[in-house]
Amino acid sequence: MTEAWGPEDGGRRPGPVRIRVPAKINLHLGVGPLRPDGFHELTTVYHAVGLFDELRASHGDTLALTMEGEGQGELALDETNLVIRAARALAAHARVPAYARLHLRKSIPLAGGLAGGSADAAATLLACDALWGTGLSRDELAEIGAPLGSDIPFLLHGGTALGTGRGEVVSPILARPTSWHWVLAIAGDGLSTPEVYRELDRLRARGSAPAALDSADGLMSALRQRDPKVLAEALGNDLQAAAVSLRPELADVLKAGSDAGAVTGLVSGSGPTVVFLATDSGHAERLATALTSAGVCREARTARGPMPGARIT
Ligand code: C5P
Repeated sequence: MTEAWGPEDGGRRPGPVRIRVPAKINLHLGVGPLRPDGFHELTTVYHAVGLFDELRASHGDTLALTMEGEGQGELALDETNLVIRAARALAAHARVPAYARLHLRKSIPLAGGLAGGSADAAATLLACDALWGTGLSRDELAEIGAPLGSDIPFLLHGGTALGTGRGEVVSPILARPTSWHWVLAIAGDGLSTPEVYRELDRLRARGSAPAALDSADGLMSALRQRDPKVLAEALGNDLQAAAVSLRPELADVLKAGSDAGAVTGLVSGSGPTVVFLATDSGHAERLATALTSAGVCREARTARGPMPGARIT
């Protein structure tokens, strides 16, 4: 641990812990059938990108959450918040009192298809583990987090990884280090993940959604080739048709990116963020400017990937 020992109790306990946690996109999102538990069986390739939330945790005599940034005034800070639920789940598991002051600085938009809520929960598990000295491994934290959000295990690990089950079973993909350049076109309003999955089921029931993506093997081999054009051909998201069906303007966002010279574009997770692949950082900057001036998104941000998962800073 690199944190200073806090003055709050004479230096016996570690004092403020700061965590940085990335957003995720899905390079491949194959959605299988609806399971009896209400989740869909997935084969996905997660990729952590450089858009970060930050969580600061310090000792307190209750559990309290404050925040600033994306979603301030919109996001409930009560017992329904994933941060509070993650802190309580860890405290229950470790049999320690759930006392902490947590402050969140959000840059990842709410309901954007970038797993911001799961990112914050992953950050909380790591922060409280350090603050409370519970000494759990990332795999143990992932197990505690998985029931709260399918993407939490991935956000504890980061990088590029295969996700199976409902997304919570994560295996890292070992690839030669390559940095990919992305532009995230962030929408003004979010989309509800369960609604997007339900829309996919409806489209499939009437035969108007494309067949499910096959295995992620093509994507994994494209990742090894380190060529954006090859990667572009292999990207795919079964939820895209459903997100566009619920939010037809996403087709305009995809077209604007293509007109502006993106290598390719696809909806991120359940949307409505649209992610574009660029060839290098200059190309990404130009694309972001073009998307902003086309007026098709609230904001366009460049982000590189892969990035590490939640980390103490
Ligand atoms: O686990 P997470 O919080 O991301 O799930 C939110 C919702 O998205 C679930 O309640 C479910 O409706 C849908 N979902 C799904 N299949 C998955 C993951 C999520 O149907 N594999």
